Amino acid sequence: MIRKIFISLLLCCSFLSVSADEGMWLPSLIGSRIKDMRQKGFKLSAEDIYSINQASMKDAVVLFGGGCTGEYVSEEGLLLTNHHCGYGSIQQLSSVAHDYLTDGFWAMSREEELPVPGLSVRRLVRMEDVTERMAAGESAKDILTKAMQGGYTARIEQMYYGNQQFLFVYEIFTDVRLVGAPPSSIGKFGGDTDNWIWPRHTGDFSIFRVYADENNRPAKYSKSNKPYRPARHFAVSTKGVKEGDFTMIYGFPGNTQEYVTADAVEYVAEVSDPMKIALRTKRLDIISAEQAKSAEVRIAFAAVHASIANAWKKWQGEVMGLRRLGTVAKKQAYEREFAAWAKSKPEYASLLDSMKAAYEAVTPEYYIRELYNESVGAVSIFGFARSIAANAAKQDTDNDKLSAQIADFAKSYNRTIDEQIAVAMLDEFLQRMPAERMPKGMKQAVEQKGGAKQFVAWLYDNTCLLNASGVTAEKIKGDAMVEFAMQFTPIIENNRHYAYRNLSNVPAIEKWYRPYMQALREWDKRRAFYPDANLTLRVAYGKVAGYEYADAEYHNPVTTIDGIIAKDDPNIYDYNIPQQLRDIYAKKDYGRWGVEIAGKKSVPVCFLATNHTSGGNSGSPIINGKGELIGINFDRTWRSTMSDIEFDPSICRNISVDIRYVLFVIDRIGGAGYLLDEMDLK
Ligand code: ARG
Ligand code: ASP
Repeated sequence: MIRKIFISLLLCCSFLSVSADEGMWLPSLIGSRIKDMRQKGFKLSAEDIYSINQASMKDAVVLFGGGCTGEYVSEEGLLLTNHHCGYGSIQQLSSVAHDYLTDGFWAMSREEELPVPGLSVRRLVRMEDVTERMAAGESAKDILTKAMQGGYTARIEQMYYGNQQFLFVYEIFTDVRLVGAPPSSIGKFGGDTDNWIWPRHTGDFSIFRVYADENNRPAKYSKSNKPYRPARHFAVSTKGVKEGDFTMIYGFPGNTQEYVTADAVEYVAEVSDPMKIALRTKRLDIISAEQAKSAEVRIAFAAVHASIANAWKKWQGEVMGLRRLGTVAKKQAYEREFAAWAKSKPEYASLLDSMKAAYEAVTPEYYIRELYNESVGAVSIFGFARSIAANAAKQDTDNDKLSAQIADFAKSYNRTIDEQIAVAMLDEFLQRMPAERMPKGMKQAVEQKGGAKQFVAWLYDNTCLLNASGVTAEKIKGDAMVEFAMQFTPIIENNRHYAYRNLSNVPAIEKWYRPYMQALREWDKRRAFYPDANLTLRVAYGKVAGYEYADAEYHNPVTTIDGIIAKDDPNIYDYNIPQQLRDIYAKKDYGRWGVEIAGKKSVPVCFLATNHTSGGNSGSPIINGKGELIGINFDRTWRSTMSDIEFDPSICRNISVDIRYVLFVIDRIGGAGYLLDEMDLK
């Protein structure tokens, strides 16, 4: 008995309370954390972070594009974000003659800045807890209509699975121009090899400028627009960082699930992630092997490879982290304690049983959706077959349109890669798909031809999808590839219902989280609750810190230009730095950016800190205790990535590019030092 109590006490202390540095806090409620922040080195007030009455730090932070963060660093709308966040824009503006991805881009005057069609940034005008207004009968529609007066956009977001509703009012700017980007050999230095890895040496930044009309309000692109004047921008610290310094991150984390039950964690760690990792390993092996054979293929598939590999590596860290932490067992123990408390509360007594039943009912379907997406759903020609079949089925289809669609697809289609992927993914699908949900007759049809390889070859022999001439709607309807791909329709349609952020957000499950969160907050008084990330603005804070990577192997939190030179290799694409950087290094010609680090003159490059971040925090400002910019967040170490489910302060680290390296590259590589003149360098 005593032992049992002791164990649950231990659990309380190690798991139930929010560990040091865990948490993504709502800016308008940051007052509840400010004492802790100040104890840790923050020198400003809650009002400095978020204020409804006056300009505050939140006015200097934007949601950049659809899923990154950016920050203003001048009173004339100069905006910093990551290179990987600006990547699509830089690519879109590039051509063979002007390859800004490879060579970088530096506007030498305002006139040379390049408008980016389709790019937008949004500023949070204000946020408000509208739970009570809605409980009192005000409709979401009314609240939104009122909030949007004056040309704003508004959304109501659920916190704690619908226990609280928050209104977010945004101002969206669409005249955004590219000002600067380092060459990829700096901005993407280390490529996929170093992605999610420490020590890191990536100059992952790009620079934009936001323009507005003469009243400083959003306007569509016009030559006569003026640089936007943000109510607040960040001063930039050139003093640098050292281990132990306070850090704060202000940005838009996208998705965490810290409160899910053991069943949900077990699904992620033991079913979903392992399946996705295995399937992506096969796809990546196929793509990499072809990339190694041809430079052209390497370039054409660079972005595809990067995006498959990014989540693939992240999931591996997540599985490893969740297993190492024993999150499933810990949550089970936590739930047992909860159940004991809830037993005497009629409104909560059967909650965990209901949740368990809901997971049992929904998880198999959810798995099928994920399996489809990651296997046959990832084959280009199957996807194309389904889309052209949809067009062919339209009444007024004209054959010229169909053949144009085929010609367009063929332009960028790599059959060598896609056919191998089709074979491997079909094989996996047939092996992993539960028999009762397998499309009728599919297994037999494949076996009849002698296996996936022969079957896929037969599909290619009997398709008109790669030949634009003589195409008709009739031919497409009877096409072998189309007929095959259309067999997945029941899976896709049945699963459309399951297209939610996570398994636990499927309505049949999510509805139980509302009372569960309420109960947790009543029961677990020690825990400091913060709502899961959902791409709304959050504050996280911590400190610059290294960590014990392995036994007796401590990773220091700061990297330098010396590390870049050590990795430099003209024969390895990811590590082939610009000659300019080699020359600067050879002469130690760092100008004002050279500093003494560990007794040596060098230039700082990246640093680690303990801030709780997630996907979407890329590009976020990382600031010191005085609120000055010290870096731009861009990654975590891969072994940190279980922080989306359980944060472990001993190992979870976010990675930022040191702002001094950003300034050094702008000045010494870009020759755009004039941009520094409009910043407040401290
Ligand atoms: N891992 C970072 C994130 O999740 C950076 C990804 C971009 N960089 C890359 N080498 N693929 O977004
Ligand atoms: N690299 C991620 C992003 O792009 C950040 C992270 O997952 O730590 O948002």
